Amino acid sequence: MCWIYSYGSISRVYRSSPDLKVIVLDDIVLRTSNLHYTYPDGTRALNGIDFEARRCNKTAIIGPNGSGKSTLFLHFNGLYRPTAGAVYVNGAEITDKNIDTIRRTVGLVFQDPDDQLFAPTVRDDVAFGPANMGLSRSEIETRVEDVLTMLGISDLRDRNVDNLSGGQKKTVAIAGVLAMEPDIIVLDEPTSGLDPESAAEIVEITEELTAAGKSIIISTHDVDLALSWADEIYVLKSGTVYRSGTPREIFGDKKLIDETKLRFPTVTKTFIEFKNRKILDCTGCTMPRDVLDLVDGFDKNEHVHGRIDVIRVVRGAIDMAAICSAVRNRDFDRIGAMGTLSKAVAVELGITCDYSTDVIQSAISAAVRGLNVLVLASGGMADLVLSRVSERNTRDGQQIECEIIL
Ligand SMILES: Nc1ncnc2c1ncn2[C@@H]1O[C@H](COP(=O)(O)OP(=O)(O)O)[C@@H](O)[C@H]1O
Ligand SMILES: [Mg+2]
Repeated sequence: MCWIYSYGSISRVYRSSPDLKVIVLDDIVLRTSNLHYTYPDGTRALNGIDFEARRCNKTAIIGPNGSGKSTLFLHFNGLYRPTAGAVYVNGAEITDKNIDTIRRTVGLVFQDPDDQLFAPTVRDDVAFGPANMGLSRSEIETRVEDVLTMLGISDLRDRNVDNLSGGQKKTVAIAGVLAMEPDIIVLDEPTSGLDPESAAEIVEITEELTAAGKSIIISTHDVDLALSWADEIYVLKSGTVYRSGTPREIFGDKKLIDETKLRFPTVTKTFIEFKNRKILDCTGCTMPRDVLDLVDGFDKNEHVHGRIDVIRVVRGAIDMAAICSAVRNRDFDRIGAMGTLSKAVAVELGITCDYSTDVIQSAISAAVRGLNVLVLASGGMADLVLSRVSERNTRDGQQIECEIIL
């Protein structure tokens, strides 16, 4: 007898075979059922929320101010308890008995970092969570250093938290939660108040984390981000779920946008305008999720594609000599680096990067124009490049070759 443990749909393939026994693990990692919450002053903030977040998925919650996003998030790790209804993490309802496990499983970054940070220095603050988990001193040090490097804030290590800018505080708050390595990461407006590069860095890290098996839930007012980033979107209005669906379903619905004080993402607005003015022949085309999608929609040119080579940069196993010779021996037209570690390696090798944000999109765009691109990608981001290129090849009939060369 062979046992297979599976999430969701794969199980259906094997269930029919008599020699295989399949255990289906629920792929819903976080769920609320008819969740109500009333604040002590009588404000009814949540009025029956049914929400589901799936394993390895990126779920975005959008909605106007006061619609209940932060209140909902405070329920996800048991900080708030429902007035009615329930919250389930990995199938278990949050109770006093399992609250410690829940806090290790669900990491919550508050909307306001001042509600989260309390230790005198950045290092102490980020170390607090891992120390509470009973990790050894050296393990705590490693986690703190790793996460500070990942978020590009190693230079803030010894700074007094009170003296940091709002954006720096926000990044430190995110670092504190990532250092605990929770399976489910909940970020309340993670990019608000951040400069564009830091915001892009956080978004890139969420991509890397989902590629590594984590599940991410964010709230945001950034509709462009929600469209391009999310697998699933929930729209809240007055403490209820107004609608949930894929980004294309949500932003394809004008009535919904009008009724929930949202606005169309720039790419969507451009697409609609192209359509209305008949610049773009939209028969059978799907709504674009980013600029590249949009341009692909009306690019009828025959392209000779370039290729994208990827070097995987893994902490603790970086072979500088091999990377150096790979870069020298091939003729690259463009070079990009994803993740702080890769960027640090590029700097050390004296490589000037053409792309340091939106690297995958930029690399694909260059390859479509016949250029050869090298991408230095930290850890799981290397696989992400591969899967994005292959998705695009399949969808648009492009033939961009992409390979991890090191
Ligand atoms: N501590 C509080 N006491 C009373 N009402 C609150 C409190 N915090 C939030 N609210 C109210 O709850 C509702 C939802 O707020 P919130 O969850 O912060 O929304 P969002 O994050 O979507 O902006 C709003 O009406 C808000 O005024
Ligand atoms: Mg909020």
